[in-house]
Amino acid sequence: MTTNSKHHEVLKRVTSKGVFPYQWAFTLLLPIRNLIFSPQQLIKRIGLKEDYTVLELGPGPGYFSIPVARKLKTGKLHLADIQQEMLDYAKKRCDKRKLTNIEYHLCNGKTLDFEDHAFDIIFMVTVIGEVENKEDYIREFYRILKPNGILSITELAGDPDKITVDELKSMIGKYPFSFLEQFGSNKNFTLNFTK
Ligand SMILES: C[S@@+](CC[C@H](N)C(=O)[O-])C[C@H]1O[C@@H](n2cnc3c(N)ncnc32)[C@H](O)[C@@H]1O
Repeated sequence: MTTNSKHHEVLKRVTSKGVFPYQWAFTLLLPIRNLIFSPQQLIKRIGLKEDYTVLELGPGPGYFSIPVARKLKTGKLHLADIQQEMLDYAKKRCDKRKLTNIEYHLCNGKTLDFEDHAFDIIFMVTVIGEVENKEDYIREFYRILKPNGILSITELAGDPDKITVDELKSMIGKYPFSFLEQFGSNKNFTLNFTK
């Protein structure tokens, strides 16, 4: 394959369904994203407290991870992604900012290698739509979330994998989560569930 056709292939993956290619991770760091959904909005929506243990699924290069880790003064942030390159990128950015309260986990796409009831919050932004085995993951979210913990899922317009509010509610509704609240419009939204 020539370099040009390789670039074409990667570009096609950005605009079509499937795992977001790590080669385009830099686009996830553009400050213009703040106009649509900022890390500060996320922190409010998930009700983050300083001592929480938090899982971010699919952090990519860590656009939301850095402000979240900074807010966790005594807590801990776990980043879990299916692409090692994304974890490496996020780690490089977090290390540069001397954030020491973060652990990095490579996902196998089916199970989440954490203890039962490990997390106060599990959150993800523009991730669930591209997860291949959604049902397996949702079962795992339930297992690893603490009782009364928050599962927070954000989906944003423009993502080719975006799923709708109704699709998400019906998917999560198959498990014993309770729906808590919706933030934003049906175009750009966060849904919070609890257990
Ligand atoms: C569109 S990017 C979003 C990154 C970040 N949440 C943000 O908004 O900047 C989706 C991320 O989810 C990850 N991902 C996709 N499928 C996954 C899976 N099954 N398990 C864990 N991470 C996954 C991708 O590798 C990528 O880092």
